[in-house]
Amino acid sequence: MSRPHVVIIGSNGRLGRALLETCQPRYDVIPLTRYDLDLAWSERRLREALDPLPADLVLLAAGNTNVDHCELHPDEADQLNVIAPGAIARWCAGRGIRLINFSTDYVFDGEKNAPYTEDDPINPLSVYGQSKAEGEEATLAASDHHLVVRLTWLYGPGKALATPDWAVELAVKNERLHVVSDRVGCPSYTGDMAAALEPLLFDARASGLLHLCNAGSCTWQEWAQYCVDCAIECGVEVRARTVEPMSMDELFGKRALRPRQTVLSTARYESLTGRTLPDWRVPLRRYIADHVAPRFLRV
Ligand SMILES: NC(=O)c1ccc[n+]([C@@H]2O[C@H](COP(=O)([O-])OP(=O)(O)OC[C@H]3O[C@@H](n4cnc5c(N)ncnc54)[C@H](OP(=O)(O)O)[C@@H]3O)[C@@H](O)[C@H]2O)c1
Repeated sequence: MSRPHVVIIGSNGRLGRALLETCQPRYDVIPLTRYDLDLAWSERRLREALDPLPADLVLLAAGNTNVDHCELHPDEADQLNVIAPGAIARWCAGRGIRLINFSTDYVFDGEKNAPYTEDDPINPLSVYGQSKAEGEEATLAASDHHLVVRLTWLYGPGKALATPDWAVELAVKNERLHVVSDRVGCPSYTGDMAAALEPLLFDARASGLLHLCNAGSCTWQEWAQYCVDCAIECGVEVRARTVEPMSMDELFGKRALRPRQTVLSTARYESLTGRTLPDWRVPLRRYIADHVAPRFLRV
C-alpha cells in the first residue's frame, strides 16, 4: 500500500528540517525549498508549482521569520506571511488537502500574566506579528480542516545559528555576557515540536489553532545561563560563566517591539493526544552536547 504524500514547503528551514526528519520514515515526503516554490511568486505561479504534486498533506514551514527585517519591509512580510499562505491554503482547500501552517507567539502583546491559550485575543506589536496573525486568518478562512500551529522561542539545527549557539559563543569569547531578563517564554526544540505534531498530522480533530511548546518557562537570561552551564558541563572553556541581566529596551532599542510574556498553554494539545511535552531543559542539554559544545572543544 502506498504511503501518504506529505509536501513540506521550507524544508531547509529550522523547523522544516525537523519536520522532514520526523516525516521521512513514515510518509512519502516531497521537500520544497524556495527554488521549487518561492512565496514571492504570484498565486498563478504558486498553483502551477503545486499542481503536479501528489499531495495528501501540506506543511508550510516557510515564511519571513526575521522580525526586524519585516518591520522595515512590511510589503515583503505581507507577501510571504499572508498573501502566499492564503493562496496555498486555497489551493489545498480546492483539492480537499489539509494544510498545516505555522505561526508565532508574536501574535500576542505579552501583557497576560499566565500562559496564552488558543482562545486568548491576539494583539500583535510588530509588523511580523501582524503578518503572521493575518496569515493565520487567511489559512483558516480557506478550510475548516486546516490547522495553524503557534510556536515560540524555536531553536534547533539550521543554517543560521540558533540562540543557544550564540549564547555559548558569546560566553566563550567575552568576559561578560548580558542577556534580556524581562522577557519570559519557553525555549522550544524543533525536533520535539515535529515529533509532538506527528500524531496529529492526519487527525481531523486537530483543526483551527493549536499551541505547541516545551514545558516550563524561563527568561532569556535563564535560557542563556542554562546553555552556558551545559556547555561548561561538556568541557567548553567559557570566560563569562555567569549571565548578567539586561532589559529588552537596552537590547532592542528602537527595533521592532517584542512581547514580554508569551508562554503558550499546551492544554489543547494534551487533551487531543494524552501526551505532554518534555521540560525545556531536557532537549536543550542534549542540543548543547550534540550540536554546540563540539564546535568549541579542542580535539
Ligand atoms: N524561529 C522562531 O523562534 C519561531 C518562533 C515561533 C514561530 N516560528 C514560526 O515557525 C515557522 C518556521 O520558522 P523557522 O524558525 O524554521 O524559520 P527559518 O529557519 O527562518 O526558515 C524559514 C524558511 O522559509 C524559507 N523562505 C524564506 N523566504 C522564502 C521565500 N520567499 N520562498 C520560499 N521559502 C522561503 C527559508 O528558505 P531559505 O533557507 O532558502 O532562506 C527557510 O526554509 C515560521 O512560520 C515562523 O513564523 C518561529
